[in-house]
Amino acid sequence: MTETMQQAPSVLENMPEYVRNMLPYRPGKPLEELKEEYGFEKVIKLASNENPFGCSPKAIEAATKTLADNFRYPDPVSRRLRRKIAETLGLQSNQLVVAAGSESLLAATIRAVMKPGEKALTAFGAFMGFEIHLAGHGGKLEKIPSPDYRFDIDALIAACTPDVRILYLPNPNNPTGSYFTHQELQTLLAKVPKSTLVLLDEAYIEFAQVLPDYPKALTLMQDNLLILRTFSKAYGLAGFRIGYGIGHPMLIEQLTKIKMTFEPTLSAQAAAEAAWDDTGFLMKGVENNQSEMKRYYQVLHELGLKYVPSAGNFVFIECQDAETVNNLNEALLRKGIAIRPLASFGFPNCIRITIGLPEENDATFQALREIVPTL
Ligand SMILES: Cc1ncc(COP(=O)(O)O)c(C=O)c1O
Repeated sequence: MTETMQQAPSVLENMPEYVRNMLPYRPGKPLEELKEEYGFEKVIKLASNENPFGCSPKAIEAATKTLADNFRYPDPVSRRLRRKIAETLGLQSNQLVVAAGSESLLAATIRAVMKPGEKALTAFGAFMGFEIHLAGHGGKLEKIPSPDYRFDIDALIAACTPDVRILYLPNPNNPTGSYFTHQELQTLLAKVPKSTLVLLDEAYIEFAQVLPDYPKALTLMQDNLLILRTFSKAYGLAGFRIGYGIGHPMLIEQLTKIKMTFEPTLSAQAAAEAAWDDTGFLMKGVENNQSEMKRYYQVLHELGLKYVPSAGNFVFIECQDAETVNNLNEALLRKGIAIRPLASFGFPNCIRITIGLPEENDATFQALREIVPTL
């Protein structure tokens, strides 16, 4: 080895410090890992806000038909799907970008809008996906306290100085399930500097829009507003990886350049097109969520557990302390039920449970009734 080679810094040493310092996202354990670890045939997985009814059968049929065509590259700009979404929502196709999940669009937006070292703003407890991708781009993040697990919109407006490149607002938020209203969004959009992009993440809109004061963000479109939505939650296509963004055509053009050229896959595009049309399947999931959420509230109330009313497909529960969370999580796992402890989300005393099928929820209620008094 020559002297120069010995002295050359390693690849790792050359990496930006902000990449080496990144904390990885810790997803819920995959089903197979849980089954293997606990020796179960069947696990009730209520850990990742997936659709308990699965995918729409029409989406599966449409995706299956595309399998043999996957030797070709897919349409890089998802023309058919964008046209379909535009028609339903009363938009133009050039206001839409489709990518491999809304997470991909979170990352693309950060890359498109911010330079390393620049600043973004969000609320404490906001969905971590944004923070992780921002860190990977060398962005700085300021977090505004969220009293009672709700975003403090006035405080966010006050903190949003013209040097803030992105104001990230997941609504409803994951993991808390709390939401801000149409009126609040309207005020915020009027007051935030035009140089700040308001990144409104509506991953759970299909569940939340049944609430009368949930924002109708499409009626508030302005140049510095970008809305993200996904097929992962209410549409049941999490594994296909497909989501979309709605914004000003000039912004959409930049995001289309910066996203991975051939995302999402052909099969994902076909699945999403079919799922978009299968409103019966979508409504079945939304109605199940509404009625089962009420049952959760009743049981949590009965057990004296503190929860945050949720606009999503999950419920956020505050426990006594981190040890209680640990014991509850372990006891539920031993009964074959996977929920989400929230330490890695910044809430060491809290858990999140995804609303499942009635029979999955019944089993969870029974388990909670057995475990909680022993904690
Ligand atoms: C608020 C929020 N935004 C975005 C995402 C990412 O979803 P996907 O990339 O599957 O569209 C999630 C997933 O949990 C989420 O909860």
